[in-house]
Amino acid sequence: MTNANILTLPLYCMHRNTFMNCKIHQMQDRIKSRRETQQKHQKGTRLQHVLDHQLFCFGGLRCRIVNGGNSFSAWPWQVSIQRSEGVHFCGGTLINKNWILTAAHCSVQAGYHQVVLGEHDRGSNDEAVQIKKIAKVIVHPRFNKKNFNNDVALLRLSSPAQITSRVSPVNLVSSSTNIPSGTLCVTTGWGRTATGQGPRILQETTLPIVSTAECKQYWGLTRSITDSMICAGGSGSSSCQGDSGGPLVCDSKGVWYQVGIVSWGTKECLVNAPGVYSRVSFLRQWIDDTVSSVYTLH
Ligand code: ARG
Repeated sequence: MTNANILTLPLYCMHRNTFMNCKIHQMQDRIKSRRETQQKHQKGTRLQHVLDHQLFCFGGLRCRIVNGGNSFSAWPWQVSIQRSEGVHFCGGTLINKNWILTAAHCSVQAGYHQVVLGEHDRGSNDEAVQIKKIAKVIVHPRFNKKNFNNDVALLRLSSPAQITSRVSPVNLVSSSTNIPSGTLCVTTGWGRTATGQGPRILQETTLPIVSTAECKQYWGLTRSITDSMICAGGSGSSSCQGDSGGPLVCDSKGVWYQVGIVSWGTKECLVNAPGVYSRVSFLRQWIDDTVSSVYTLH
């Protein structure tokens, strides 16, 4: 941290014992002031709701992914990828009625695995879920198992999803989108929580995008951060095992865009370590090409 940065830190940072806490409080101030400006203009809008949620859940301060909380927004693109006996092992997202985006390292197999759409509470039998078989799995041809470079795969559903209020596709960021570090985004999943158990209810947490430079500082000596990766977190919450393949989404003017795919991080899901996500903008061309070329085969 430079002197200039120290000077701009709010007074309460002097009392906080860790830099992480300080960062969390700084972020909260930013959300608060953004929310206040917003309130004057557009009460009750989607963006207002997003900011309320960020204030409530940021950094896992009040919510209990690790240090996230039960999701209370609708994330209609979130899917659970399960073994045939119904055991969840990875997340994914619906990107159009026929295709699921997930992580290559989830090693999804067309014959054995299935996709569950419209799920929120894994323990409930009353949800109008859609269970789909997988017709085809296409792993990125340059996926590298050793360093998780290009950790992306596409799953073609054996029959199209029915689009409802509970099941609908997410927008992907364009190839040219660059999300500035510090932007607050959200990741969701049924992965491990702080209590170790896989949760019943879909969890969510708000976390900041971390610059590649800062992320390399953390990971540089042990793992490489490539162009196909984007980092987020390190501010009190983390995605964890079982969240892989799921989304990192950022809102822009009340519309959510998928920016990342949960890929890797510390084994223990340390909440002060940046997590690594596949960078959707970098992989977008491959996603579009793959989806359109396979469409023309049918
Ligand atoms: N690789 C993990 C999975 O397969 C997800 C990693 C998420 N983040 C972390 N800090 N471990 O589900």
